[in-house]
Amino acid sequence: MNRRNFLQSGSLAAMGALTSRSEAAQGTEMPGVRSNSDRAHLTVVADETLGNISRNIYGQFTEHLGSCIYPAMWVGPDSSIPNHNGLRSDTIAALKRIHAPIIRWPGGCFAGTYHWRNGIGPRDKRPKTWNIFWDRDEPNSFGTDEYLEYCRLCGALPYICLNVGSGTVREALEWLEYCNGKVPTTVTSMRAANGHPTPYDVQHWSVGNENWGCGGRFDAEEYGRRYARFVNYLGTAARGTKVKFVACGDLDGDWNQRFFETLLRRPGASRVEGVQYLSVHHYFLDEGPAVEFTDEEYYGLLAAVATLEALLRKTIGIIDNYTELRGPNIGIALDEWGVWHRTQNTGKNALLQPNTLRDALVAAVVLNSLNNFGSRIAMANIAQAFNVLQCMAFTRGKEMVLTPTYYVFDLFQPHMDTTALKTLVNSPSFSAKEAGRGPKPEQETTRPYLSVSASLKESTGDLCLTLVNQHLTEPLEVEIHITGLGHSGPMSGYQRLLTSANVRDENTFEKPNVVKPGPQKPLSVKGNPFLHQIPPHSLETLVLRKA
Ligand code: AHR
Repeated sequence: MNRRNFLQSGSLAAMGALTSRSEAAQGTEMPGVRSNSDRAHLTVVADETLGNISRNIYGQFTEHLGSCIYPAMWVGPDSSIPNHNGLRSDTIAALKRIHAPIIRWPGGCFAGTYHWRNGIGPRDKRPKTWNIFWDRDEPNSFGTDEYLEYCRLCGALPYICLNVGSGTVREALEWLEYCNGKVPTTVTSMRAANGHPTPYDVQHWSVGNENWGCGGRFDAEEYGRRYARFVNYLGTAARGTKVKFVACGDLDGDWNQRFFETLLRRPGASRVEGVQYLSVHHYFLDEGPAVEFTDEEYYGLLAAVATLEALLRKTIGIIDNYTELRGPNIGIALDEWGVWHRTQNTGKNALLQPNTLRDALVAAVVLNSLNNFGSRIAMANIAQAFNVLQCMAFTRGKEMVLTPTYYVFDLFQPHMDTTALKTLVNSPSFSAKEAGRGPKPEQETTRPYLSVSASLKESTGDLCLTLVNQHLTEPLEVEIHITGLGHSGPMSGYQRLLTSANVRDENTFEKPNVVKPGPQKPLSVKGNPFLHQIPPHSLETLVLRKA
């Protein structure tokens, strides 16, 4: 591991210059040495803000895939598993506790085959279909009304992904009408007959999913033309409302530029219009086994967050290039992300994978990065909520187990709807090899052990820091200096810690409480700067306000 101190600014736009590969090659290894030079220095610049941290970046993604919907969200009203009219109570309570702000549905690849009319009306009359992407039966018991009720019970916003691949504009328009239509029509009367006379007012709609891949294998030009056609009608139907449209983007290659160029070539277009968000996806493909990984693989997976940061910076540049002078800004919706370990991808256990503290720390470092991008990231949805990929919970019969990743979302809650603050980090660092993928060669990356984001809640004066010590075995002492807060006296608040004896620890049905946060402890800070020590492989939340 590299003990050279690593300078980082929490303003990620500035980070490019500090993370170059040539810099990454320089450090010297001095294993086991602890001294003052191993101390990290963190300056929180409270009067330099990076924009709003939208609560929607702590969003969830649910797909008809494996056991995500059945039986983690839907068990049916006759089930012995506690439920609200068929909707599973324990998973609702779990998402409510972390204030899950938005839930994306129904896919994923599945969205490109989903026909919403199959999922409304009396359940015993709904067609039984086959889920071609994930090879399992689809009873259609969980459809639009069940999904919207699940969101309501969680206190979350809905976010619907339209079928562009195998669906039509008419089908999409009627789905929008079913959810949001205000006047009596044949379609809104169906909604009323199904028990929902009042419109749902669904605001977030994405026009397709991964349309460069499972969503139709379009090229950017063909998707751009389709997008313009869908939004021509959908936008007209939704005018005067708060509906927002999300276009399918891609973090790799030149898809985004070609998509924007296509929109600009539409007759009468002088600027990019009808796109409020650009959807991008990023998975951290497994570095070694999910549980029995080596120490190198531990660092390799954490270092891979650098690639996501670079791709997001590139995407922000492209968006600015196409919108800055010619139209309203477009927020990034990272509406699928997470660690993807190697696992089977068909049937009821499709994409079911273990979830260790390593995965949770990756999530924490990603969430710190998203916070540091401030208002540029409008939404993010980890994949997926239950029993699939980097989930929040596993279910088995009546039982539910919360994963280490769930607790990361718990510990990040104080950042929701706050202002991101600039941070300056000078930290000992590690170097790790990120595995090569396809055309991308293996590369060595240097990262600071300390990952951090800071925010201020104007209404309460609460300053929140989420600190990750990525060092596998050593605690990290951090000298924290808070500037620009307008007061310099003592501060008090609380701290919460998520760690475990072994970074390979996970929560299982047999041992469900191995990895969970310790008790909330009071915290009082007299001086500024002050010293704070973070245990190895851990996430710590500090919330402070003027004493
Ligand atoms: O989350 C699993 C799959 O990953 C989704 O269905 C698809 O959009 C992505 O490729």
